Amino acid sequence: MYQYSQADHQLLLERVTQFRDQVERRLKGDLSEEEFKNQRLRNGLYLQLHAYMLRVAVPYGLLSSEQMRTLAHIARRYDRGYGHFSTRQNIQYNWPKLEEVPEILDALAAVEMHAIQTSGNCIRNTTSDPLAGVARDEIADPRPYCELIRQWSTFHPEFNFLPRKFKIAVSGAIHDRAAVAVHDIGLRLVKNDAGELGLEVYVGGGLGRTPMIGKLVRDFLPVHDMLTYMEAILRVYNQLGRRDNLYKARIKILVHETGEEKFRELVEAEWENIKASKLRLRDEDIDAIRAHFKDPEYEDLADFDETFDQHLLTDTDFAKWVDNNLELHKKSGYRVVYLSLKSPDQPPGDVTADQMDSIADLADRYSLGQIRSTHRQNLVLSDVKLTDLYELWQELKNLGLATPNYNHLTDIIACPGMDYCSLATARSLPIAQALTDRFENYDYVNDLGDISLNISGCINACGHHHVANIGILGVNKKGIEVYQLTLGGSAREDAAIGKIIGPAFTADEIVGAVGTVLDVYLQNREDEEEDFLTTYRRIGQAPFKEQLYG
Ligand code: HEM
Ligand code: SF4
Repeated sequence: MYQYSQADHQLLLERVTQFRDQVERRLKGDLSEEEFKNQRLRNGLYLQLHAYMLRVAVPYGLLSSEQMRTLAHIARRYDRGYGHFSTRQNIQYNWPKLEEVPEILDALAAVEMHAIQTSGNCIRNTTSDPLAGVARDEIADPRPYCELIRQWSTFHPEFNFLPRKFKIAVSGAIHDRAAVAVHDIGLRLVKNDAGELGLEVYVGGGLGRTPMIGKLVRDFLPVHDMLTYMEAILRVYNQLGRRDNLYKARIKILVHETGEEKFRELVEAEWENIKASKLRLRDEDIDAIRAHFKDPEYEDLADFDETFDQHLLTDTDFAKWVDNNLELHKKSGYRVVYLSLKSPDQPPGDVTADQMDSIADLADRYSLGQIRSTHRQNLVLSDVKLTDLYELWQELKNLGLATPNYNHLTDIIACPGMDYCSLATARSLPIAQALTDRFENYDYVNDLGDISLNISGCINACGHHHVANIGILGVNKKGIEVYQLTLGGSAREDAAIGKIIGPAFTADEIVGAVGTVLDVYLQNREDEEEDFLTTYRRIGQAPFKEQLYG
């Protein structure tokens, strides 16, 4: 894991002192809420429907057990005993008191954490593959590149007031687990025929009211040019991005309005000026950062354990969990474990302080003291020995973190919707709950296989409904909350924006409508191996439409 330098520490402490002063002036009334807004948005502090919300950065989704314990302490001492993991691997607190936020930031700084650039029109926390460094399908570890981006983008003087927020994701594997296609810049590490490492560069992806898949502007950028090229993209955006219309300010609109070809030319022209500057990465720059992400001392282990196999035969609940919530590890005898934050008892992505403390302990005992957060709002223990799995599962089960639904129907992404968000046009959490209750039968959900269902409470699409296989968007029609269904979206390497199937459903109808969609899939799939998206792409919308409205 990256360890802060003296300069990193200094930076955080100065920032907390500065913000403490701003909060004091706000509390005394020397700053109006409007004047304060710009300052708080530099520090991840939003004002929501009921209270302030603090978004804390989790750089590329990596947490130490010590950091997790601090997050638990903050949830317990300063919030209502829980936190919420977001779709960009961050954690959010929904009920901090303004006067206590500087104390929270102090506690975070002590464990090398902060809320800088988690809001406002700047470069946000870079996200990545939660399986970075351990995935079997990895081409190269994305974390050193994420860290280089973090260092480059933090307080970058030129990009502190962009036309709009800017999100970057980096993936280093064949399968995209970081949703790179729906980011302002998405980077995928690839190798060319000569075996050299480079990047595919996608620009202009995003959700919201104008969803778009990122355009490939470079199919092989040498890694040494990563920062100069991104600087060129950001410069073009900073100069030409629209500041006259909030809804047209993201880079996706610039790329769209300028045209892909012309946009690429503009970036290349800007890049010519800076590509040989000192921002160009040298081998030693990359190696120095890479050294922070060296493999831990893995043991030499067999990829087989008799006791584990025995448990699989005798304990069906364990077998279900193994079937759904584990991933193979690049090292023999180890497994990657998904901790589901989608139990029937908690809103998607929520974790209590007690759970956080226990997760930290489990990470220390079973997984080299590290935890990762995922884009689909779950957690990962990345280095668990095969021989420890049964014990770990029992602990997770007791904590309510072993729901065997990873990448399954009830692994729902849902935004806060009308329960907490002032922009909402409909509720989303109660719909997620109703779906979870309706589809609680494990065998049915398991039979459906790999499928994604996301819900947003308005067109801003924080719940990523556009890129779900089954997307639900809550809208308000003449004072009534209704729900539009979209089908066929994907946030993976085959990224696609889902298509609206037809007229919206009421809150009472939507769960049944999802059931109908699933029935059509089950009736039409070629065999159990064919997943929902493949079937949908093969048969198209018509059979679904017919059953839903026919
Ligand atoms: C001005 C109001 C808001 C707008 C326009 C807005 C829009 C968006 C959009 C477009 C995204 C990202 C989707 C993308 O990748 O393109 C996003 C992310 C998100 N939004 Fe909102 N949103 C707003 C307010 C809120 C509020 C009030 C909440 C919570 C109650 C919220 C929760 C989230 C979450 C959890 C994410 C993922 C963020 C992260 O992890 O960094 N949003 N929002
Ligand atoms: S999608 Fe809409 S309702 Fe949901 S959190 Fe975002 S702004 Fe609020």
